[in-house]
Amino acid sequence: MTRIAIMGASGRMGRMLVQAVLEDEHADLGGAVVRSGSSLVGVDIGELCGLGRAGVTAVGSLDRIIDDFDVLIDFTTPATTLDNLAFCAEHGKGMVIGTTGLDAEQSNQLEAYAKRLPLVFAANMSTGVNLSLNLLATAAKALGDAGFDIEVIEAHHRHKVDAPSGTALMMGRAVADALGRDLDQCGVFSRVGQCGPRRSDEIGFATVRGGDIVGEHTVMFVAEGERIEITHKASSRMTFARGAARAAGWVAGRAPGHYDMQDVLGLKHG
Ligand SMILES: NC(=O)c1ccc[n+]([C@@H]2O[C@H](COP(=O)([O-])OP(=O)(O)OC[C@H]3O[C@@H](n4cnc5c(N)ncnc54)[C@H](OP(=O)(O)O)[C@@H]3O)[C@@H](O)[C@H]2O)c1
Repeated sequence: MTRIAIMGASGRMGRMLVQAVLEDEHADLGGAVVRSGSSLVGVDIGELCGLGRAGVTAVGSLDRIIDDFDVLIDFTTPATTLDNLAFCAEHGKGMVIGTTGLDAEQSNQLEAYAKRLPLVFAANMSTGVNLSLNLLATAAKALGDAGFDIEVIEAHHRHKVDAPSGTALMMGRAVADALGRDLDQCGVFSRVGQCGPRRSDEIGFATVRGGDIVGEHTVMFVAEGERIEITHKASSRMTFARGAARAAGWVAGRAPGHYDMQDVLGLKHG
């Protein structure tokens, strides 16, 4: 049994994560953290999530549950995630990180912590998206240098604060890597005004925000006369939460390192 704690347990993903861990027969919910000083501190986390009594009360800091968990699942903000990395590295815990929107400096800090603790970090924890990354690499190798233009379109709910989505970037990177291109050089994130014709090696990104869209990603391979599209649509956040619970069971007790969902799902080639 892996003892799991959830950070940001009152958030949109936090509530789903509580449910996924409670439903996982290989996991124990060891603790749930909400913001320090929140009126939710002391509330039964199962009742908070509308799941009935779980016997675990929300706390306002990780210190309070230090002996109660082996792996922390964190879907919060980059600054909070970095604080939690420091705590977990110091106290011998593993982490599953779903937080997106880390800047270059924050990403470097995460890599440094990965030398001290085992962590799974993925901008998208769904099985379907991670399988799509493999399909995209295959398609890119066959089509990308054969006259097909590559464009990534993503759509999310109106509350999402970063763009393009971490998943769109992962998909763009999977395609770029397969073609030996550098996404930092060939990624085009905005087209407005007299931006000129498209370069053949561009990978373009477009973003839609609205309503309650959970997450949709399409990668188009567009040639003269035909178009191939690989699309993933998430209809429930539970898909991310179940993936994260699975990752927590997988990462417990591993050697320090930065792992991803391809590792967890056994999708890595050779
Ligand atoms: N990897 C994936 O598969 C995946 C899937 C979906 C979402 N995400 C990412 O997960 C993150 C969270 O998304 P969300 O939609 O769940 O956002 P959200 O509803 O805003 O939830 C974030 C939660 O974190 C809490 N939090 C932040 N800092 C905290 C701290 N220092 N102490 C305690 N709690 C803290 C917030 O508390 P307050 O409400 O008090 O501020 C909030 O409850 C985003 O980066 C999103 O892009 C990743």
